[in-house]
Amino acid sequence: MSNYHIKQFEEYFQVYKKSVNQPEQFWEEIAEEHFVWRKKWSNVLTWDFTKPEIKWFESAQLNITENCLDRHLRARGNKTAILFEPNDPNEQAEHITYTQLHERVCKFANVLKEKGIEKGDRVCIYLPMIPELAISVLACARIGAIHSVIFAGFSSTALSTRINDCDAKMVITSDGSYRGAKTIDLKGIVDEALEDCPNIESVLVAKRINSTIDMKEGRDYWLQPLLDKAHQVCDAEIMDAEDPLFILYTSGSTGKPKGMMHTSAGYMVYSAYTFKNVFQYRDDDVYWCTADIGWITGHSYIVYGPLANGATTVMFEGVPSYPDFGRFWQIVEKHKVNQFYTAPTAIRALAKQGTELVEKYDLSSLKVLGTVGEPINEEAWHWYNENIGKKKSPIVDTWWQTETGGIMITPIPYVTPTKPTYATLPFIGIQPALMDENGKEIKGNQVEGRLCIKFPWPGIARTIWGNHQRYKDTYFSAFENMYFSGDGALRDEVGYYRITGRVDDVIIVSGHNLGTAPIEDAINEHQAVAESAIVGFPHDVKGNALYGYVTLKDSGESRNHDNLRKEINQLITDRIGPIAKLEKIQFTNGLPKTRSGKIMRRILRKIASNETDQLGDTSTLLNPEVVESIIENRL
Ligand code: WT7
Repeated sequence: MSNYHIKQFEEYFQVYKKSVNQPEQFWEEIAEEHFVWRKKWSNVLTWDFTKPEIKWFESAQLNITENCLDRHLRARGNKTAILFEPNDPNEQAEHITYTQLHERVCKFANVLKEKGIEKGDRVCIYLPMIPELAISVLACARIGAIHSVIFAGFSSTALSTRINDCDAKMVITSDGSYRGAKTIDLKGIVDEALEDCPNIESVLVAKRINSTIDMKEGRDYWLQPLLDKAHQVCDAEIMDAEDPLFILYTSGSTGKPKGMMHTSAGYMVYSAYTFKNVFQYRDDDVYWCTADIGWITGHSYIVYGPLANGATTVMFEGVPSYPDFGRFWQIVEKHKVNQFYTAPTAIRALAKQGTELVEKYDLSSLKVLGTVGEPINEEAWHWYNENIGKKKSPIVDTWWQTETGGIMITPIPYVTPTKPTYATLPFIGIQPALMDENGKEIKGNQVEGRLCIKFPWPGIARTIWGNHQRYKDTYFSAFENMYFSGDGALRDEVGYYRITGRVDDVIIVSGHNLGTAPIEDAINEHQAVAESAIVGFPHDVKGNALYGYVTLKDSGESRNHDNLRKEINQLITDRIGPIAKLEKIQFTNGLPKTRSGKIMRRILRKIASNETDQLGDTSTLLNPEVVESIIENRL
């Protein structure tokens, strides 16, 4: 029997040991016992990080949708697979059972075929968080088409760049989308993008906001009439284990976005196995991840991971602030959510609102809380733990990346004792290493270095679409025989990992290495501070000095700024030491963020360095307007 579901700390260590000592045997047992295959593999793993080439379950045959849908029909046909919660709280939620989802996916798959989509073709999906998004993803997988979901907050230029990079034949979109009180003209954005995309043959348009849009004859089709006519049976295309499943773009530190390519079998096994354990999912639970399916978090932990486990997964169309900042908690109460997975940036935004809107709702269904996407600062961690988890629900701080396909370093709730701001221990099968600047592994505890992974895991992306050399250069060239994550991390006295942030964010002040995260943590402890970001800027004597951008809670705005500066620096001195004190502190109304909520330190660094003429493209930011006001008030 394989250890599919880990329930005790001792067991974690045993299983971890086995996964490291006999990785092939370990993953073979998991794959064999918990998934359905059309044909078994000849080799569990072949790998060579120098090429790099990684193959899992070679020559096996399967279809991921048979694992996510067909196999549940008998035992869970009437169980809710997708629970759709619309943007407008007055619109009824939709419960899509496994039987219904299966039928809708098959019909959609037949529509794709009818429009000429074949195995291996690329299909770009540019949809809001409505059921059609998950259904179209699964419909592509059903027929072996490679989906490339593009987050529906991206601009038309970002969309056309991605469509052309993967040479897609089709776009799936909607007439528009709801976002809080606003509507967005998605189809208009697609039309603009397609002026630069000569190879798109057809566009399928789902109706969501009932707006009047242009439909281009011979190219654009309303989805519903096609679905109405489609046959409800669609045999799953039989895929090889290493056939591509999807492409998902992620931004690099330079150059155009990287189309990370994930394949079928390994990704399925890894996303499903991590889901089960990291969220301790039990059969009647309602699980909710607030991410968008446009990101890897949504691929692995809204769609594939949960459905492969026969789970009920919530899909939320709206935003945390509409109709008010209590919306998340209202949904938790309404659907009795058991596992709740969100981003630190959301937690900070909600914490800023106080607890009144939290206390209004019954959150007693919650059993597990998760975070992902960036280091969670101490203050946000405690706020989440105290106000949302009521100190009863463990927080899983999950570290991973688009490239890793699934969660890599994380506590297992009710198993691993948590520690604020620590992602804690490697997941089963994951072998992290911390490396120094000279390429040597740093052994032992209480050390800090660059976070690498020594051995392949089933979920790792296999290449960058159309550019294998870049894949090699970015991830396998910095350190010999290692996957390099681009992050820094420290390992504490018991072997727990804390992610310190991108290594490109490390600032050396007077010869001392300072990570941004611990300093920001210290600043954020100040009761008047809502959020902060620090960057380095050139300094005559110190090499670099620190520039802090600080947003205040409402209560702080009336306070004397010079006093606040002193208090903040005192906190930093107390927590880290005088070396980490900020040279300059600028109070701002907000921080520039990417659409996925990451603070764009690159821009802040340029402003601090007085290189405002080199900001690059800021139009894809979530809030481009704050950049101007920051420049205006630069110190
Ligand atoms: C980068 C990957 C993985 C899904 C969402 C982001 C940062 C991610 C954590 C965490 C500290 C984290 C890293 C990583 N990151 N999770 N728990 N603690 N940092 O995917 O856009 O590919 O970003 O996000 O810097 O490299 P992504």
